[in-house]
Amino acid sequence: MAIEKKKIIIVGCGPGAEDYITPAARAAAGKADVLIVSKRLHDLFPEIAAERIDSGTDIAGTLETIASRRDAGRQVVLLATGDPGIASLAQPVIRRFGRENCEVIPGISSIQVAFARLGLDWKDVRIVTAHSRDPELAAADLREAGKLAILGGRDGAIRWAAGLIPQLGKDRRVFLCEDLTLPGEKIREIRAGELAGLPVSTRAIILVIRGELLS
Ligand SMILES: C[S@@+](CC[C@H](N)C(=O)[O-])C[C@H]1O[C@@H](n2cnc3c(N)ncnc32)[C@H](O)[C@@H]1O
Repeated sequence: MAIEKKKIIIVGCGPGAEDYITPAARAAAGKADVLIVSKRLHDLFPEIAAERIDSGTDIAGTLETIASRRDAGRQVVLLATGDPGIASLAQPVIRRFGRENCEVIPGISSIQVAFARLGLDWKDVRIVTAHSRDPELAAADLREAGKLAILGGRDGAIRWAAGLIPQLGKDRRVFLCEDLTLPGEKIREIRAGELAGLPVSTRAIILVIRGELLS
């Protein structure tokens, strides 16, 4: 008898705190025979007795692992931080297995939380992903954006942002948002010049906002 292959479920788990995991995410994770998790999410859902596989940095290897478990008829659930729609393994998985074979459960993004904390909307934000490598973007590509959210969390990303921000114009205000939703959450306004030397959490977003948007 042919083995039925189940849809891969990709679950957004929020920025870190339990309170920010939606009931839908929890229910979806609970279906797992196999949980694909990053180190950061390893301890989430301790009550789920699924096989846990570290997603690590080897994307091709992770896709092969997912394929083998799925071929065996097991329910694979991939956990993503925040929302799977931003800088997660969701797109490589969807490209490889097809939209029809995947289900995405949205989560609360760290970017949403950062904007909520400042009381700003984020409909026109330009998101810059610098968390794994320096973006191939120049100041000219970003000057038009009134709101930038730079995903940091890496010393190189902080250095990159510190070099970029002064080139955007004098009217920008900079907010460093660290460990959002977690007990050590810290949000502070800093001067662009301060950024380069600051020790920054591995969970950090730099918001760069045109001053008039904050008045
Ligand atoms: C691989 S990206 C994933 C983003 C995620 N999909 C989201 O929607 O939040 C990881 C980056 O998200 C940001 N991040 C995730 N959790 C965070 C938190 N609790 N506080 C601040 N930034 C966070 C950091 O910039 C980190 O380097």
